[in-house]
Amino acid sequence: MKVALIYMSRHGTTEKIIKHIAEQLTGEVQIFNLADEKYPDIRNFSNIIIGGSIHYGSIQTEIRHFCKRNMHELLERRIGLFVCCLLSTRDSDQFERAFPLVLKAHSKASAVFEGDLIYNKLNAIERLIFNPSKEEQDVIAINESAIKAFVSAFLNENAVASTPYIPLKS
Ligand SMILES: Cc1cc2nc3c(=O)[nH]c(=O)nc-3n(C[C@H](O)[C@H](O)[C@H](O)COP(=O)(O)O)c2cc1C
Repeated sequence: MKVALIYMSRHGTTEKIIKHIAEQLTGEVQIFNLADEKYPDIRNFSNIIIGGSIHYGSIQTEIRHFCKRNMHELLERRIGLFVCCLLSTRDSDQFERAFPLVLKAHSKASAVFEGDLIYNKLNAIERLIFNPSKEEQDVIAINESAIKAFVSAFLNENAVASTPYIPLKS
């Protein structure tokens, strides 16, 4: 099984999630960070997982462009989609807006994984906006069971539509 994992991450949480996903998969798994490689060649991959994080309500532009540019190929492949963000009542909205409708309808698995605010990585303006408490912020708790559930839905041959959203932390 050849799987391409395509992602964008600003402060590293989505990258950690991608690495956990990679550990759950067997076969040939290749990770593409769109920050380093804008135009990954996906022709040889029949399975593709795409993930990005939410900042100011939106997923990274590079993820949007990647989906748009490759839509035809993506619709011929097994697809998993996820976003990483702060959990709130807007979670499902943020996911809904992150990916094109047709791609969401086609995907075998989807998830909203909970991210974090990493104090040391915020710039001065971001610290003012979010006002995080230093002590509370610097731990990223990855919920492996949520990632396993996402991967298992992705691999499920019988899955015909997206699963409901899966929080990263239980
Ligand atoms: C400047 C900034 C803006 C953010 N905006 C949002 C937002 O609009 N909605 C949300 O749910 N989370 C928001 N977050 C939280 C991020 O989604 C969270 O920190 C996530 O873990 C980032 O993942 P990454 O490190 O892979 O980029 C924001 C974080 C930062 C630093």
